[in-house]
Amino acid sequence: MLKPIIFDCHLRAWNIPVITDSKDLQNLNITLCILFRPVASPLPGIDTSIGDAYDERMLPFISTEMLKSVVARFDAGELITQ
Ligand SMILES: *[C@@H]1O[C@H](CO)[C@@H](O)[C@H](O)[C@H]1NC(C)=O
Repeated sequence: MLKPIIFDCHLRAWNIPVITDSKDLQNLNITLCILFRPVASPLPGIDTSIGDAYDERMLPFISTEMLKSVVARFDAGELITQ
């Protein structure tokens, strides 16, 4: 029997702690705050390919990698002053 899958498409905010390095290899402890709102139409396909809890499985990974790639372009001093 088919049962409906209910997706939450509200805007949500998550705080994700990230330990990473600056360009000059200073160890950084950053809390990344991401705001996200799922786009409804691709959700059934995402649910099929990744499964439920797609957000918990993918968003921390994707956003952490993005943060690391941005932070690695700056020295620790630049990150503090800018
Ligand atoms: C990172 O900073 C937070 C907040 O100050 C702290 O609770 C946490 O223990 C720190 N993590 C590490 C690995 O130093």
